[in-house]
Formats: sequence, C-alpha cells, structure tokens
Amino acid sequence: MTATHPSLPLYQQVAGHYRQAIAAGTLAVGDRMPSVRSLMGLHEVSLSTALQACRELETAGLLEARPRSGYFVRAPSRPALAPIEEPAAGLPDPAQYVGIHQRISAILARSQHRDIKINLGGACGAPSLYPTAALRTATARALRRYPDLFGSAAEADGHPSLRAALARHALRSRIQLAPEDVVVTHGCTEALNLALRAVAQPGDVIAVESPTYYGLLQILESLGMRALEIPCSPQTGISLEALELAAQTYDNIKAVAVVPNLQNPLGCVMPDARKQRLVAWCEARGIALIEDDSCASTYEGETPLAAAKTWDTTGNVIHCASLHKVLAPGMRLGWIAAGKWQARVEMLKFGLSRPNEMLAQIAVADFMGTGAFERHLRRLREQLRNQREWMAQAVAGSFPAGTRLTLPRGGLHLWIELPAGMSSETVFEQVLAHGIRVMPGSMFSNSNRFDHYLRLNCGNPREPAIERALETVAGVVRRLAP
Ligand SMILES: Cc1ncc(COP(=O)(O)O)c(C=O)c1O
Repeated sequence: MTATHPSLPLYQQVAGHYRQAIAAGTLAVGDRMPSVRSLMGLHEVSLSTALQACRELETAGLLEARPRSGYFVRAPSRPALAPIEEPAAGLPDPAQYVGIHQRISAILARSQHRDIKINLGGACGAPSLYPTAALRTATARALRRYPDLFGSAAEADGHPSLRAALARHALRSRIQLAPEDVVVTHGCTEALNLALRAVAQPGDVIAVESPTYYGLLQILESLGMRALEIPCSPQTGISLEALELAAQTYDNIKAVAVVPNLQNPLGCVMPDARKQRLVAWCEARGIALIEDDSCASTYEGETPLAAAKTWDTTGNVIHCASLHKVLAPGMRLGWIAAGKWQARVEMLKFGLSRPNEMLAQIAVADFMGTGAFERHLRRLREQLRNQREWMAQAVAGSFPAGTRLTLPRGGLHLWIELPAGMSSETVFEQVLAHGIRVMPGSMFSNSNRFDHYLRLNCGNPREPAIERALETVAGVVRRLAP
C-alpha cells in the first residue's frame, strides 16, 4: 500500500491509498471499488477499518454506495465555480430594522399570491424526503393509545415523551440536557421569539449575522428590537473580530443571535474553536447567546456537528432548534433549552401560545424512539447531498460567467453570488412570471449588500420539472447578466 502517512490511523492510510488512485485516474468515475472483503485481505485490516476507509472516501464525495453492489467512484462533486466572496473587513453596518418587514412582506406576498408551480424559494424538502407513512402509522397508534387525547388539556412545556426524546437527540450535538430542560415550541420560530423576549426589550440591539435568515429579521421587527448586522464569512461564520468592534461601539447589545451550524443562507459551519470563543466572549460581556440549530442533522460529515451550547457552563446560551426541515415540516415542532432563562421562557411560552397540541408530539416521540429515525436521517442527508451537488453543477454549467458559489456540506440551500450589478429582485420577478419562486438576496439583510445574491432551495429530488425550472432561472439570469 502507498501509505500516505504511517502516523495516520489505519483507515485513513487505506483511504489515502484509494484517494491517490482516484486522483491519478487509476480508478475512474463509475469504477467499482474493491469490495470491503477484498480490502480486508489486500491491506490486512479488519472489517471495521475497511468500512471506515470506504465511508471516509464517501464523505469526501469520492465514492458512492449503491445498494447491494458496493462502492463506486463518483463524478467530482465540487462545482467549477469560484467560492463566494468573503465580507469586507471593518465596522459592522449599523442597519436598523426599519423597513425590512415591509420589504420582506411585499416579496413574500407577491410570491404567495401567484400560482407557484415550482418552489425553489422554500426552506424545507419535498414531501418524499420525509417518513410520512411511518408518521401516519405512529399518529394512528397514538390516537388508539390515548382515545381521550382531544378531550384533555395539553401538558405544559410539551409531552414528556417528546421532551425526553429531544434531550436524547441533543446528545448528538454533544449537549447534556434533562427532559425538563426542554420546552416544546411551534417550530424554531416560536423558540427564537421566546429567546429574544426572555433576554431583551423593545428598542434593544441584537447582533445578527449578515446575511441572515430573513425570518429572524421579521421577528426582531415584530418585537421592536433592532438588528445589528455583523459580517459573516461563508467559510467560518460570524466575524468575532467585528463583533468585538461592535461591542466597543454599541453599549446596548443584549444578545447575539446566530446559526453556527449550516447558516442560512450561507451554509457555513463555524469551526468548534470559534464556537467556543463566541460562547466565552458572550459570557464575559454579559451578552446572551441565542443559537439556532435547526439544520445540524443534515450535515453530511461523519462526525455530527457540535452545538455552541456544548461549551456553555453558566446557562448563558439559549439553544433553539426544530424538526421542521429534518423530520416533519407539517407538524411545526420545535424546541428551546433556555439555560438560565428556562423559568422565564416557560412563563413566556404559557403567556404567548400555551402548550403545543399533543398528538403530533406523541407520534414524533414514538418515531424518534425507534431506529427508523436514524435511518431516516441518514437517507435524508444522502438525498440532500445528491440534490445539492446536482444543483450546484447545474448552476455551474448554466449560469453566466462571474457567478460564484460555495457548496455547503449540509442544509437545503445554495447561496449564489450573481455577477456584480445584477438585481436578484428582478430575477425573482421574472421567474415568478413562469410560476417559479426563488429567494432574492435582498431578503437576507437590512442593507443592500446582498441584492445580487440568490438563494435556491435544493429540497426537491432531481426530476424533469425541476431541471426545466432551473434552466428557466438560468436563462433569466443569463439575459440579465451585464
Ligand atoms: C435558520 C432558520 N431558523 C429558523 C427557521 C424557521 O424554523 P421553523 O420552521 O421551525 O419555525 C428557518 C426556516 O427556514 C431557518 O432557516
């Protein structure tokens, strides 16, 4: 074996050997990898080492597993596009919330009133990505088990079985929670509302990533709070340096609200060391850290992503998450673990909306308690990865010169930088006329810095209607290109 590095673990040495063979073309696209059994014999390694080597290559996007046939060399997945631009250094834009709600509402309203045939602007996957049959069965079982369910008051803070299932699920993100630390909410949207209400008042400033998820800007506007946009790197997330600068400039920052894992829209993941620094920085400054972790389960890497809350030792991090994108968009289930604000969040939840209804919670807890949940997540990750890669390649092949894209390692979106000077709202308008919805970059900031960006949803399996829609979007962009 051509050992890449004798000091590396054995499985990485085996993987390195085949990585080189693929790079050299000795193993070409479509070629079958030696079977796991032959790898064991060839390299005198155990079954688990051989398997780990294959999975390592699979995670790197070099191999694909085909059911009952083994591993095959796959086409290179990285699109031939330059990565999107890093934000300019300097002071954050002291943008205010004023006007954002109207702009976002106007765009959302325009797209909701039309007859949308293909939605490339949404935030979740197609129904076929979710285990709807198993959830129907679990729901019927719950009703049989609790025939008086609709006649009984819902349990405060969520059904105990779901709170326990979510606390177990949090172990994946390296968070230790007791079931009582979890409050079930109406999606991550309610969790974020509760977190912000718990730590800030109208008029307070909340530091957010720029660009950021437009729903967060809407929530801030509805609460009368002000968003302070901090530059966010497409590689490493929110700039800690700019955050420090902002804190020296504004003395009324009450919270930092971020998506450290698979940020929306950038898709970036903060390295753990930076998450840790962010947690420590917020703690030292007495600023609450609100983390939105609603997409982490879609991460394609071998090791699940750690949440920022992992490094929280004082309860200063509020963890918000959701099953909307990863299990059941129609059930609107989310949750919050609010650390030292737990009691306040429980009170706010009761005052705001009372507990969630029970049926969906019992059914989901039932499903999450079986191996089917992990199997579903594995399949979802695989499907989303294929869809992201396919779409990124289609963009690379059909959008005009000057288009840039950083392929994320999870999530449901591609964030595309269009050639300078292009207006994504014009693209939005023109594709809407074809019954196609995309998200213009202007939705993701109070400033106009992202007007020439476009967010596309990759939650739809590749099929002719989606291919045609993407080609229509590309055609519009080509015609508008300078
Ligand atoms: C980063 C982020 N947070 C929160 C939400 C909303 O979550 P939910 O649908 O669970 O309310 C979304 C939906 O797109 C999102 O992208």
